[in-house]
Amino acid sequence: MSDVREERDDDIEAVRQMLTAAFESDAEARLVDALRSTHAWMPEFSVVAEENGEVVAFALLSRIMIGGETGLALGPVAVLPDRQKQGLGAEVIKDALRRATEAGERLVLVLGDPAYYKRFGFVPAAPFGIISDWSSAGDAWQVLALNKVKARYPSPWRNL
Ligand SMILES: CC(C)(COP(=O)(O)OP(=O)(O)OC[C@H]1O[C@@H](n2cnc3c(N)ncnc32)[C@H](O)[C@@H]1OP(=O)(O)O)[C@@H](O)C(=O)NCCC(=O)NCCS
Repeated sequence: MSDVREERDDDIEAVRQMLTAAFESDAEARLVDALRSTHAWMPEFSVVAEENGEVVAFALLSRIMIGGETGLALGPVAVLPDRQKQGLGAEVIKDALRRATEAGERLVLVLGDPAYYKRFGFVPAAPFGIISDWSSAGDAWQVLALNKVKARYPSPWRNL
């Protein structure tokens, strides 16, 4: 049984090594290291799964802007290569999304395989007019609404 929790300072090196192993390159590890020193970093949304003292999975939500509103980017997400396809990725993603929902966050964007991310409720973002440097990726460019927003119409509508 894994312990899913917020990342601690003494996890940072293990997270770095796990990202490098999962992606077979250090690009994602370097991305996370670079984000740590920016305003985009939200420690409460940096989630690890630990088993027997070992960090086995990681999911990150960090701050982005969507138009004029604040939003979150999901990723990178990584699981130790010999522990993949055992539900650990889903565990850390669900925990990160739960934390963001409880914090009142609204929109999360992700670039990833729709066959995987649709199980968390993500849908293609392009039909909502949300674009980015990656929106040409088609259905891999996805959005999830965490909390509802209410549309408010001016008073003449109430007389209909
Ligand atoms: C992608 C990743 C995070 C998924 O985590 P996981 O713990 O292996 O996956 P889970 O156990 O939560 O889910 C398993 C399911 O997802 C599917 N799946 C796993 N990785 C997938 C991927 N990259 N694309 C599509 N589907 C994937 C499996 O086929 C399985 O499907 P099923 O439930 O229908 O049998 C993990 O495999 C990983 O670290 N991969 C390498 C790094 C990476 O590609 N990260 C994602 C981009 S940010």
